[in-house]
Amino acid sequence: MKKRINIFIVTAVIGLLVLACNLSTETHKELAIGATSDDINTEIEAKVDSLLSIMTLEEKIGQMNQYNGFWDLTGPKPADRAAAKKYEHLRKGWVGSMLNVRGVKDVRAVQKIVVEESRLGIPLIIGFDVIHGYKTMSPIPLAESASWDMEAIQKSAEVAALEASAAGINWTFAPMIDISRDARWGRVMEGGGEDPYLGSKIAEARVKGFQGQDLSKSTTIAACAKHFAGYGSAEAGRDYNTVDISTSTLHNIVLPPFKAAKEAGVRTFMNSFNELNGVPATGNKMLQRDILKDDWNFNGFIVSDWGSIAEMIVHGYAKNGKSAAEMAANAGSDMDMESYLYVEHLATLVKEGKVEESLIDDAARRILRVKYELGLFNDPYKYCNEDREKEVIGSKANHEAVLDMAKKSIVLLKNDKKLLPLKKERQRIALIGALANDKNSPLGSWRIAADDNTAVSVLEGMQQYKENTLVYAKGADVSVGETSFVNETKINTTDKSDFTEAKRVAKNADVVVIVLGEIGFQSGEGRSRTELDLPGVQQELLKEIYKVNPNIVLVLNNGRPLAITWADEHIPAILEAWHLGSQSGNAIAQVLYGDYNPSGKLPMTFPRSVGQVPIYYNYKNTGRPIEPQPDLVFWSHYSDQKNTPLYAFGHGLSYTTFNYKNLKIETINSSVSNPQIKVVVDVTNLGDREGKEVAQLYIRDPFASTIRPVKELKGFEMVSLEPGETKTVNFILDKTTLGFYDNNNKWIVEPGEFRVFAGGSSDNTIQSNFELQ
Ligand code: NOJ
Repeated sequence: MKKRINIFIVTAVIGLLVLACNLSTETHKELAIGATSDDINTEIEAKVDSLLSIMTLEEKIGQMNQYNGFWDLTGPKPADRAAAKKYEHLRKGWVGSMLNVRGVKDVRAVQKIVVEESRLGIPLIIGFDVIHGYKTMSPIPLAESASWDMEAIQKSAEVAALEASAAGINWTFAPMIDISRDARWGRVMEGGGEDPYLGSKIAEARVKGFQGQDLSKSTTIAACAKHFAGYGSAEAGRDYNTVDISTSTLHNIVLPPFKAAKEAGVRTFMNSFNELNGVPATGNKMLQRDILKDDWNFNGFIVSDWGSIAEMIVHGYAKNGKSAAEMAANAGSDMDMESYLYVEHLATLVKEGKVEESLIDDAARRILRVKYELGLFNDPYKYCNEDREKEVIGSKANHEAVLDMAKKSIVLLKNDKKLLPLKKERQRIALIGALANDKNSPLGSWRIAADDNTAVSVLEGMQQYKENTLVYAKGADVSVGETSFVNETKINTTDKSDFTEAKRVAKNADVVVIVLGEIGFQSGEGRSRTELDLPGVQQELLKEIYKVNPNIVLVLNNGRPLAITWADEHIPAILEAWHLGSQSGNAIAQVLYGDYNPSGKLPMTFPRSVGQVPIYYNYKNTGRPIEPQPDLVFWSHYSDQKNTPLYAFGHGLSYTTFNYKNLKIETINSSVSNPQIKVVVDVTNLGDREGKEVAQLYIRDPFASTIRPVKELKGFEMVSLEPGETKTVNFILDKTTLGFYDNNNKWIVEPGEFRVFAGGSSDNTIQSNFELQ
């Protein structure tokens, strides 16, 4: 009897698969859910329904189970019990997804097990952290965000998807869109910076880039908005630490990029390791069910973070593995990454009535839906084409794209004495710093599939400008020993033996270019710092070099804002070059020599000292913002440091200069119910070379029922200007930009005065105002 049922089921499934395979390409296209569509595709739903109707409870739970692959690790070591069961579970159809399996050969091998050996042959969705490129590395996301160029950011995600999909991957755990105001947190390198408006635009661009218009193409992959939510607000910037934030901060600062990602059609979300106001995000029903699935109507699925279901026990929230599984499933976490608790306990929990079977159906439905949208049922091996893998990964076109992105990501922080651009001839240049000759570090963190030492170094980039004399000296190592994604990085705090040679080289040069900062693995997951200075002996090296030759261009390589106050006071030119990926050295050289005019703007505030952190431009005024009487202490300040940042959010210079004038308000509709305010401003290029400028628009609602920040970004536009040229930039403010969430999570626009600021940085603007009735 049992055998006959099986045969019947298998036949039914084959029927379904055949039906799916027989669809013409055109129908196939129709089936794909457009990246921006919220609509449920009825044909896909019908297929999911029929599949669900023949799945056992264990098979449905199996879809909710995700295992790590066989060698790459992006979290604590998997437990032995998982390794022991992995193959058995794959064969039983008790695995819905694997992560960290990459390359056509290996993806095909695991896919083959489930497709050929499991009862229903449901394909796996293969996830990987494609954070800033797959093998051809783009700049780290924080750097890309400094471009403020949404087209370029989208293109970069497109290239990443192209390469990852050619390596068998169909799902990236990106974009990370955690707003963070704390540079101590190592994961700021993965995000879009501190601002919810800019962060939302970036979220949208990245999702569109990864997913494209048609998810069923074999060149696009599903994106994942992470980490939902609040992960970027870890106390003291220590990764995984407690998050305790107000409702207002949650809704006005943290959630907007996630909402934007959802609206851009992101197909998956990842929850987070942190607790949020006493409840772990993974077991947080308010976040996952009430906000994301109900209010926002998200119909994709939520994956837990690595082991985050089991970590609810350690948090002190779940008593044991079984109750952690119960809490996470009931709260809306659809897929268990590396806790193995769903596969171990959910069936029992359903039988005991502790988790409704309808919730299991809902989770499995969401996961199957995305697999259908990806076209995996049509062809489980659609991302497994060896020829494409060889042709696409590392192609010339991909390198050109990441080079373009890298140039756009560079921010000129300071350029006194017009030291930059460097002259192309007859200059004696000393290039100093271990990072200048480093081909690994520029690849940044989160570059698991990249080959080591494949970035173009600054030395290699600069060597292409042959008409100058270029002499290199290391000066000092930044780190000691091997560095890797999983192990702690050891910093050189003692060895200064190469200082002497570096000073000799510097003394004989017209200009010194010194590359200092953090190595690629000093930021990223688990890489929080309590100091934000130049690590190790680098600050000392800089001072020593300065003594022999003050004509210094400091090039920073780093994954977070640094407090380089001494450098700002002494060094004439400073270029923020982050970790720029595979083409790093070429991009930096082109900017140094003026073949590319920098236009990047900071997406995160640079503090003067770590004691100012958290520091951000959209702070609130307090009741004592300015010094009331010069000799009294009763105002909000530090005794030993200014309140202002070293470099403000939005700051970034060019080799030309821009001027803002004629800021005008044209009120189209001043009613709070449907405000339409047009803001126009003239931007002029005052210099003698063409340049691009990111014109920024900020508002302030000076009196509100809940206090509003002193400035909030509400628009920006990139303008290209020839020497002497003026362009008028237009912005529209409406109810989506003039309102805010009150403390009851209600979006409101209030009547009264609004101030408007336009300029090239949050701390350098011209002002006007208008009123809403
Ligand atoms: C843990 C990280 O927090 C998450 O961002 C990542 O996607 C997973 N590990 C998988 O590598």
